[in-house]
Amino acid sequence: MVRHPDAPVTAPRRLVRWLSAPLPAPPERLRRGPLRPGSFPSGSRSARLTSQLGLALAVAFGICFGTGLLSHLIQHPPGWFWWPARPVGLYRVTQGLHVATGLASVPLLGAKLWSVFPRLFTWPPVRSIAHAAERAGIAVLVAASLFQLVSGVLNVAHWYAPMPFFFTSGHYWVAWLTVGALLVHVGVQLPVVRDALRRGVPELRPVRADRRRLLAGVGAAAGLITLTTIGQTVRPLSGLAVFAPRRPTTGPQGLPVNKTAVAAGVAATDGDAYRLTVIGPAGPVELDLAALNAMPQHTADLPITCVEGWSADGSWSGVRLADLVRLAGGDPHRATVLVESLERGGRYRTSTVAAPHTRDPSTLLALRLHGEPLHPDHGYPARLIAPNRPGVLQTKWVARITVREEA
Ligand code: HEM
Repeated sequence: MVRHPDAPVTAPRRLVRWLSAPLPAPPERLRRGPLRPGSFPSGSRSARLTSQLGLALAVAFGICFGTGLLSHLIQHPPGWFWWPARPVGLYRVTQGLHVATGLASVPLLGAKLWSVFPRLFTWPPVRSIAHAAERAGIAVLVAASLFQLVSGVLNVAHWYAPMPFFFTSGHYWVAWLTVGALLVHVGVQLPVVRDALRRGVPELRPVRADRRRLLAGVGAAAGLITLTTIGQTVRPLSGLAVFAPRRPTTGPQGLPVNKTAVAAGVAATDGDAYRLTVIGPAGPVELDLAALNAMPQHTADLPITCVEGWSADGSWSGVRLADLVRLAGGDPHRATVLVESLERGGRYRTSTVAAPHTRDPSTLLALRLHGEPLHPDHGYPARLIAPNRPGVLQTKWVARITVREEA
């Protein structure tokens, strides 16, 4: 529709004009160093290269955000959230994918930042208020992306000193910032990306050769990082996992541990004095190790899947959680169970087991691993082990179980 020249200028149109009105350029004498024209002679950079790297990064960050958010929801389930007990290894796949995709994004982000680096020094630095806002958005995106990758790598490498904050919270909230800034960036750049990736756009042969070489190089770097780390999740590739932060077969009873009994302050637990308290509708029940061993014993082959992405298989034996719930007068089909550890403090000393896991026959209060009494670092005298569950929720050194019946 053609707008009549005398028609009054609407408020939104005035705002757009104001935002895109050209700002006065800074004095030319300030145009020094990398701001000078021709400071970045490299011909390998192109909108097509940047768009291809950008799309790959957007997909990778989308996978990271989705799998990360899932891990968060499993650990902090809102009322509407439901997480199944089967398939047994689903969380192993999602969190393994999270960390693998995150690690593979490192060369991708490096190449993307290299491809746009000269734009940092465009002249004039800001052309309009809208342009300034867009640049500020990109600064947030770059900072947040770097934070996610650096904090993630430091976390899986167990190097916490450079992070004077709780990794999970920082990583979680900056994830929202990253994805928000990414959506704005993609929205603003969409026309540029569409033009750059359109078929038949002429491209000089050497530039094309360079672009393909660089993409192949980035792909190879991401592939190599994946090949030399994914073995911490995918067993058949464990022999190649030379850079994996964790070796899935290294540790007491052939399984890694994150928190030892000493670190938890429970190393001196005396098996004879140990008592498990089960509180349910029928009142509290106290069981010692002999009583637990006298109950029907079951074995389940289940992975320990760490939030850090590594996972390892174990053959666990013990009492079904469902049987303990029944013993305390509860109905495992409707029961949510609070599991508390002997550990005095710590973020993960308790966990909640929802009904799908409570009634699952493979959810055990484990007393043995690979047929041997649990090593103290694996939770002796007794620990929770359930299918499809993050390691931080597989509570060790269990002291009390409280049954809460759902309506
Ligand atoms: C090198 C890259 C990355 C690594 C190694 C990594 C590692 C991790 C680890 C170990 C956790 C589990 C934290 C816990 O439960 O204690 C996690 C959670 C998470 N990650 Fe990443 N991550 C990376 C990149 C990303 C990126 C790029 C995003 C999003 C854009 C992201 C979003 C999340 C979210 C939302 C969580 C859930 C945090 C929570 O449970 O509260 N991660 N990540």
